[in-house]
Amino acid sequence: MPGQIPEHLQKKAADRLAFYEDLGIRLFYRNRRVEAVFQQEPSVESAENINPSTQITYQEPTLPKALPKPGLQKAVSAVPSKIPPLPLPASPPPSLFDATDKIVGDTLLKIREDLGECTRCKLHKHRHTIVFGDGNPKAELVFVGEGPGADEDAQGLPFVGRAGKLLTQMIEAMGLQRKDVYICNVVKCRPPENRTPEDDEISTCSPFLLRQLEVIAPKVIVCLGAVAAKTLLKTNRGISQFRGQWLDYRGSKLMATYHPAYLLRNPNAKGEVWKDLQKVMAVLGLRAKGKSA
Ligand code: URA
Repeated sequence: MPGQIPEHLQKKAADRLAFYEDLGIRLFYRNRRVEAVFQQEPSVESAENINPSTQITYQEPTLPKALPKPGLQKAVSAVPSKIPPLPLPASPPPSLFDATDKIVGDTLLKIREDLGECTRCKLHKHRHTIVFGDGNPKAELVFVGEGPGADEDAQGLPFVGRAGKLLTQMIEAMGLQRKDVYICNVVKCRPPENRTPEDDEISTCSPFLLRQLEVIAPKVIVCLGAVAAKTLLKTNRGISQFRGQWLDYRGSKLMATYHPAYLLRNPNAKGEVWKDLQKVMAVLGLRAKGKSA
């Protein structure tokens, strides 16, 4: 029938709704034209359309093209084939991040519960333990890495392997202890052979990271490596182009620096990272370990 939503799209919509529901996101339809959800192409940011002269700030992602739990299939099927046009809102449609804003009373515990024994992406097949995050839930400083390695997968804690030991040294050199900061990753399950997480894995898992950041609301976020920086900034630019610069992420100051694993392979870059961390220390009013007033 003309205008009817095809069955495969209904299924896709139901699946996607279930996914967002699992994340605790339930506010999508307010003041929106349902037709537009099925017609709009998501805008894809490519390296070409980034003006290198402009400062990078966090950019709102667009809504998914189609919405989607099998339990909601009925509701989606019940959408009439002819949807009366609703007035478009004056303001832009709510994004995923606006939606996460609306999770009133969200907590790290709720986020962990929503994550559950996750099987949303293929990374679950090889993992032993989900590595959610660790540290002070009220930290002023959050470190975001890429994804767990073998040691993290075994222990369920972020940055406890070789790279983690280096990160711990860096934190202590800043005059802090691990328990003072919060440490987490873009993906919560170990990618096989420690490969870089793939786009679908990042887009499936990163909403949990975004909720963690929303709840903690740190003064400073340090992105360890390109995956964390690109995920939070929604950019394809190489990290060396903006490493060491203060950027904005939803009201937190964001500093991207090299990943400790990179430093293990390239110890000469440690000086650059230390300079970046000194900028962080200045903002947080910290003194380097061993330096007195
Ligand atoms: N590398 C990461 O990015 N995260 C970890 O937790 C460990 C190593």
